[in-house]
Amino acid sequence: MDIASRPSEPVADPQLAGAAPPPLAPPVIRREDYQPPAWLVPEIALDFTLGVDATRVVSRLTVRRNPHGDGAALRLNGDNIAPLGVKVDGVAVNDWRLDGADLLIDLAGDAHAVEVETAVNPAANSQLMGLYASNGMLCTQCEAEGFRRITFFPDRPDVLSTYRVRMAGDKAAFPILLSNGNCVAQGDDADGTHWAEWHDPWPKPCYLFALVAGDLVANHDSFTTMSGRKVDLNIWVRPGDEARTHHAMASLKAAMRWDEETFGREYDLDLFNIVAVSDFNMGAMENKGLNVFNTRYVLADPETATDADYDAVEGVIGHEYFHNWSGNRVTCRDWFQLSLKEGFTVLRDQLFSADMGSEAVKRIEDVRVLRSAQFPEDSGPLAHPIRPDSYQEISNFYTATVYNKGAEVIRMMRTMAGPERFRQGTDLYFARHDGEAATCEDFVKAIEDGSGLDLGRFRLWYGQAGTPQVKVALTHAGTTATLALSQAVPVTPGQPEKQPMPIPLRVALFDRESGRHGGERLIVLDKASDSFTFDGFSAPPVLSINRGFSAPVSIEADRSNADLVFLAAHDDDPFARYEAMQSLVVRHLVAAVGGGLSPDDRAAGRAAIGEAFAAFLADGALDDLMRGELMILPSETYLAEQLLVADPGAIHAEREALKAWLGHALQAALIALHDRASAVPYSRDAAARGARKLKTQALIYLAAGAPEEAARRAIAQYRAADNMTDRQGALMVLCGLAVPEREEALADFHARYHGNALVIDKWFSLQAGSLHPQVLDHVQALAGHPDFTMHNPNRVRALYMAFAVNPKGFHVADGEGYRIIGDLIRRLDPINPQTAARFVPPLGRWRRIEPGRSAMMRAELERIAAAPSLSRDVLEQVTKSLG
Ligand code: PHE
Ligand code: ZN
Repeated sequence: MDIASRPSEPVADPQLAGAAPPPLAPPVIRREDYQPPAWLVPEIALDFTLGVDATRVVSRLTVRRNPHGDGAALRLNGDNIAPLGVKVDGVAVNDWRLDGADLLIDLAGDAHAVEVETAVNPAANSQLMGLYASNGMLCTQCEAEGFRRITFFPDRPDVLSTYRVRMAGDKAAFPILLSNGNCVAQGDDADGTHWAEWHDPWPKPCYLFALVAGDLVANHDSFTTMSGRKVDLNIWVRPGDEARTHHAMASLKAAMRWDEETFGREYDLDLFNIVAVSDFNMGAMENKGLNVFNTRYVLADPETATDADYDAVEGVIGHEYFHNWSGNRVTCRDWFQLSLKEGFTVLRDQLFSADMGSEAVKRIEDVRVLRSAQFPEDSGPLAHPIRPDSYQEISNFYTATVYNKGAEVIRMMRTMAGPERFRQGTDLYFARHDGEAATCEDFVKAIEDGSGLDLGRFRLWYGQAGTPQVKVALTHAGTTATLALSQAVPVTPGQPEKQPMPIPLRVALFDRESGRHGGERLIVLDKASDSFTFDGFSAPPVLSINRGFSAPVSIEADRSNADLVFLAAHDDDPFARYEAMQSLVVRHLVAAVGGGLSPDDRAAGRAAIGEAFAAFLADGALDDLMRGELMILPSETYLAEQLLVADPGAIHAEREALKAWLGHALQAALIALHDRASAVPYSRDAAARGARKLKTQALIYLAAGAPEEAARRAIAQYRAADNMTDRQGALMVLCGLAVPEREEALADFHARYHGNALVIDKWFSLQAGSLHPQVLDHVQALAGHPDFTMHNPNRVRALYMAFAVNPKGFHVADGEGYRIIGDLIRRLDPINPQTAARFVPPLGRWRRIEPGRSAMMRAELERIAAAPSLSRDVLEQVTKSLG
């Protein structure tokens, strides 16, 4: 696309000129094939002549033959670019060649200067990889393989270079010119252009390169590091958005301090820039000294951002900042090691958020994400280990497995070592590998050496996919309780046989009478089966296991409803308390869906759930944030996970029926709760946030059990709202009800916030994710709304991802939901393949769905596969999902 729009440029490769690519399966890249680079690039100087439709790039590389390489030609990767001129040691040469999209240059000596000129069209770059335009601003996204869309380079993370960047452009269009590191010179030219030169002293792989040019304003601040260095901090946004950057700035400073105190990591430049862009494929990007963020993880004020949005800003700001050490100072040798930086950094951001707020609530939220996003991935056709063995398109591996399960695996090491010894391990890791491109094995070895832990068999967690299933039985004889455990790791694609893995389980046994336990124990199940004894129990105790979710496994324990009600009320581990409640509900709903529930059993199950519910609604010792957490029922996806073959319609109906029963049975308590919470004035403290969470939770149950009462309260909450949490919560509930208040609130919301893209995204999401009987019609109408565009990933996700994860709409019995997502994938793929590919996994669940829907899901995947030309991204996901 970039090339085709500049017909006068030489086109070296016919494929670039628009000829249909051959319909070959994309090549498979394998971890075991890793070879060190043949050439190193210690230095690079880039010179950009900026323009929205045409930007010229001159790249000067200092290349040196790698003594550990294989002596091959210099291979510079390219993607959709053509070399406009090549010089070696200052002399123009012609004896280069193209191998596919790569530029190959034979070099006689061991050290040379290589210069390559390219040109790109940022405005035509709808994939948002490489250099692209967003609202007239220019910015780059290079991870994983976007740098090769800007210039020819060994685009692999184990080639580290120091960067010097010069850029020049129209001063009116691009008053602010930013790149990595420090600005070392800048000036104006007579023709209305200006220029800036940046230098980054820290060697980095090209995926961490960034450039931003545009009309931006900054929230300026500073931070003094633990060694007393002053760092200038800037958060750059479009004019008018400055007032919405204060939470991001506070989060950044908190993250900088926290990383010093918790991991001993100090920032290493005098300047740290964050830029918010509205067109972005992911959440944010950790480019050295110049983090680029999706606006949704920067901008927040009470009027437009919910409490959850505030938390997400804090978490992502922390995440990207923490990458400065876990990712940038120590980077990845190759993309198979992605979890080295992502798993570790997710753990770091989780610990940070836990320290900033409620540790208990944060843990529950993290587990909920793992169970609703990662567990289904791990049990489906796209299952892969946290360190994959092969890929076709690396963008498809920025997954919940690599990120969230990766974090859980490192968290287990921390649990086994304890925080102090774990810290000795991470200190050693940073000291040993600073400035290097490392592997997951390097990380494990450093933790092992630094903490003294034996992680021999634990390494299996890096190579085996699938969520381990742990079976638990507790018996009692005399004064001894015996815990018998066994584990099985399920078969996953390409991995027919699994070995048992070390599984650390935090366990406590409660005395039924006193409601207390005599101390928690950490046991490690490292065999297929094992048993553990506990003495001093005159009566059978109540088992609390996998406390704090110490291992990312699923537990099958035969516990009575009474035991679960007991734990939901008494467990001193907040996660375990939540878990008891979840188990109670899961067990009931799974039985109900299976049709195996007699009317008596149904009544008994509901009574047990209602009892536990009423108990924590009334528990004065609970804070409201935690109470709100306990009120959230297991998701339909998680429920479906418990079944070999799920009927999404039945799951939805039973779950809604339970909500309605609770809403009806507990109506008075819920109304009292809503009244109490509604009297709490807005503030950002935990008590007020807890109250807001309860307000919406109460409305959700009332909407199911007493819809008229709920509609009345929701519209009142909507009208009175002085913050987005209340407003969105009320609108969400109204969206699911077929009442006139719904239209009033939706129209008001759109009028009130039109022009504010992030809030209009909410307007799309709330409708697409709703429980309304006509949700499909709404989605189809919204796709034609003037505010909808396929070119903005946030907007596409707001409408279609909200819909794809809405079981009521997506799994509608006639298959229309699958058709909507299939059509989206086909239409989006030519525009933004990376984002299009993210919609394939929901269809890929077909094997675990009842036959009627299953066939329609599969047919939809086949329709996609038959499309005339598909991106590597979508092709890989569709092929694997069908395979
Ligand atoms: N590395 C980014 C992060 O997790 C994610 C990302 C990947 C962003 C690819 C853009 C493109 O922090
Ligand atoms: Zn990351």
